[in-house]
Amino acid sequence: MRTARFPGVLSRWAVAVVVVLAGHPHSAAARIGTFWHVTDFHHDLNYSTSGDPKTMCWGTSGASGDLGAFGDYACDAPLSLLTSAVDAMVKFESNPDFILWTGDDTAHVSDDDFNTNLVVDIVANLTHLIADRFPNTTVFPVLGNHDYYPKNQIPVGPSPLQASVADLWKPWFDKLGGGVYNSFNSSGRYVADVPGSSVTVVALNTLLWYKNNEHTAALPDTDPGALDPDGQFSWASNLLANLAMRGRRVYLVGHIPPGTFERYQQKREGFHWYQPRYNERFIKLVQQHARVIEAQFYGHHHTDSFRLIFDDEKNADQRTPVSYLLLSPGVTPWRSTLSKETGANNPGIRLVSYDTTTGAVVDVSTYYLDLPAANLQGRAEWQLEYNFSSTYTLSSLSPEALYEVANTMKDDKATFDRYYRANTVGLEDPKVCTDQCRLLHRCAVTEVDYTRFYDCNTAAWTHLSRWAALSVAAPVLLVLLR
Ligand SMILES: *[C@@H]1O[C@H](CO)[C@@H](O)[C@H](O)[C@H]1NC(C)=O
Ligand SMILES: *[C@@H]1O[C@H](CO)[C@@H](O)[C@H](O)[C@H]1NC(C)=O
Ligand SMILES: *[C@@H]1O[C@H](CO)[C@@H](O)[C@H](O)[C@H]1NC(C)=O
Ligand SMILES: *[C@@H]1O[C@H](CO)[C@@H](O)[C@H](O)[C@H]1NC(C)=O
Ligand SMILES: *[C@@H]1O[C@H](CO)[C@@H](O)[C@H](O)[C@H]1NC(C)=O
Ligand SMILES: [Zn+2]
Ligand SMILES: [Zn+2]
Repeated sequence: MRTARFPGVLSRWAVAVVVVLAGHPHSAAARIGTFWHVTDFHHDLNYSTSGDPKTMCWGTSGASGDLGAFGDYACDAPLSLLTSAVDAMVKFESNPDFILWTGDDTAHVSDDDFNTNLVVDIVANLTHLIADRFPNTTVFPVLGNHDYYPKNQIPVGPSPLQASVADLWKPWFDKLGGGVYNSFNSSGRYVADVPGSSVTVVALNTLLWYKNNEHTAALPDTDPGALDPDGQFSWASNLLANLAMRGRRVYLVGHIPPGTFERYQQKREGFHWYQPRYNERFIKLVQQHARVIEAQFYGHHHTDSFRLIFDDEKNADQRTPVSYLLLSPGVTPWRSTLSKETGANNPGIRLVSYDTTTGAVVDVSTYYLDLPAANLQGRAEWQLEYNFSSTYTLSSLSPEALYEVANTMKDDKATFDRYYRANTVGLEDPKVCTDQCRLLHRCAVTEVDYTRFYDCNTAAWTHLSRWAALSVAAPVLLVLLR
């Protein structure tokens, strides 16, 4: 366990040495820092390893009735799993520069089992868990769509729940700077510099753009409030212009990402979260300010994937990638009920290393728990799952480098399979991903725009439905020919 730390420490030294030797323009100040990105804890309060199989995990169908100590793919996370995840963070990097914590703390259960106080209590206990293990670390938290009662229905502007959570997070916010507490309290968003680096975190309230949030979804396009709920797009646009003038490097952080879910195969248009008008506006915001945005970090999918945004969504052949989004896997292993193929995942947490001077992400390492093995051993042995440097042979991340990865995935099955294995944190064998599935993943990665995604994925469906038609038609033909 102890020795496992040395290779990481050594290679960080190695990276620092290489940067200095390479005569980096800012070599005097160059330092490789780290931060954790953790998301989607989804604490199941009712999880139990004994009792009536129907109620051992909260409102879940399909649990086996033989639940292990650290969780089950049919259930949200027991406290033992969440504690082991935060302990693993301490084990692998106890002194990160900061932590991104992108929400969804409560279980996937009916609103009937919830109330505002219970949501706040769950957020409070998980806040204490992180604060207890990382008492001196700066934390940048945001709320998820499950961190509201009723779920998804966060109002535009202030709310009592948001105010209670602002008070819970006040020690972190006060460390981040003067305006952060008030900003979050009134809008669920904020901006704060990462001390000792060129990075500024812009934390977005993406829940306002969620199509299941009736406060904004119910508004017709003609309603002035519908185009920019809480003025968040204008706020972000002005802010990004100012940060560019200050020479800052921005990390955009939020719970729900734009674009389409890479695992849902039931419809050609796929499955997306942002309302179309907000997805379009988000893409425009990023295109307009791409030069100041270094990277973007989201949760919500529970799976591990990435997205690319291009300079011009109209021009397919000549477009240039201008921004990338990293979607971090969740800690909950919960099998999505959206459709059969969306599936479950192993619990994952993510350590990012970055150049504090340029803001560039140098590497991304995902640590995971092999859930059945942990339950069998009665011990949660978290371990390195993979990193970008080794799996995708990247020396650092950039829109161009990730576009290259996306293009390689297209032609090289081995690369795609590595991506696919990581997608469910090592749970699903890439063999289950059919041609249609592969095209869907690639369309989701490169086409954040819904219309472009549809066109890309329709090409996949046309291609595949021809195959499907052939395989159905062939036996009929044989019968006719006989
Ligand atoms: C969860 O547990 C509480 C008591 O601890 C119980 O009242 C409630 O019915 C349980 N909910 C479900 C859905 O099992
Ligand atoms: C929060 O933690 C306290 C102390 O361990 C415990 O008694 C309580 O049940 C927890 N509540 C929730 C909602 O997790
Ligand atoms: C946090 O900071 C305090 C005061 O500097 C120090 O005593 C303590 O050891 C630190 N804790 C950790 C876990 O780094
Ligand atoms: C936080 O927001 C609430 C409204 O939800 C407001 O009543 C309260 O005054 C705000 N707190 C501070 C310190 O501004
Ligand atoms: C990246 O992964 C490779 C292969 O698992 C491993 O050998 C290497 O030590 C890892 N690098 C870091 C910085 O963890
Ligand atoms: Zn979630
Ligand atoms: Zn979510």
